Amino acid sequence: MNDQLNGIEIRRATIDDLAAIFHLGEKVFTAQDTSNLYRTWDEYEVTGTFNSEPEHMLVAEADDRVVGFALGTTIQKARSAWSYGHLVWLGVDPEYARRGVGGLLFEQFREVMTETGVRMLLVDTQADNHAAINFFMRHGFDNPTDHVYMTLYLQKDN
Ligand SMILES: CC(C)(COP(=O)(O)OP(=O)(O)OC[C@H]1O[C@@H](n2cnc3c(N)ncnc32)[C@H](O)[C@@H]1OP(=O)(O)O)[C@@H](O)C(=O)NCCC(=O)NCCS
Repeated sequence: MNDQLNGIEIRRATIDDLAAIFHLGEKVFTAQDTSNLYRTWDEYEVTGTFNSEPEHMLVAEADDRVVGFALGTTIQKARSAWSYGHLVWLGVDPEYARRGVGGLLFEQFREVMTETGVRMLLVDTQADNHAAINFFMRHGFDNPTDHVYMTLYLQKDN
C-alpha cells in the first residue's frame, strides 16, 4: 500500500518509527495549539495505537525520515450497524507543509478505513486551527460543530 509523490512514501508504521512519530508530534502538537486537555500528545498515544491498531497508523517518509503521520481508531456504537473511524492525530513536519504530504496520508488513511468497513470518518480540532479546518474541508468533511470545554478546579488554595 505504498503511495509515492515526489519522493514521499506513505506506509504502515513499524516499531522503528515510533520514536520519530513521537518527537514529530511534540513539534507539531504544541500545548498552545492543542490547548484542550481531553487528549494530549504523549508517548502512550503512539505506543497504544501501535499495540492495539497498528493498521491505523501510517507514516509519510521522505529523505529517509518520517515527515508526517496519521493515527486513528475505529469506534462501534451500541445499537448501530455502522462503524465509525476517528482520525485522532494527523501531523506533518512544518518543513514539508503544503506539499501534499497531509493529503497523501489522509487518502491512504481513508482507504484503510474503507477496507475495514468504516462508514463515516470523524475528525476534531480546535476551532481556531484554520489550517486543519481548511485541510479537512478540502478533503470533503463538512458540518463543523463547536464544542465547549469547561473546567472546575478541585484543589483548594492554601
Ligand atoms: C493540517 C496539516 C496536517 C496539513 O498538512 P499538509 O501536508 O500541509 O497538507 P497538504 O499539503 O496535503 O494540504 C494543504 C492544504 O491544507 C490547507 N492548509 C494547510 N496549511 C494551511 C495553513 N497554514 N493555512 C491555511 N490552510 C492550510 C489548505 O487547504 C492547503 O491547500 P493550499 O496549500 O492549496 O492552500 C498540517 O498543517 C499539520 O500538521 N498541522 C498541525 C497539526 C494539526 O493541526 N493536525 C490536525 C488535527 S489532528
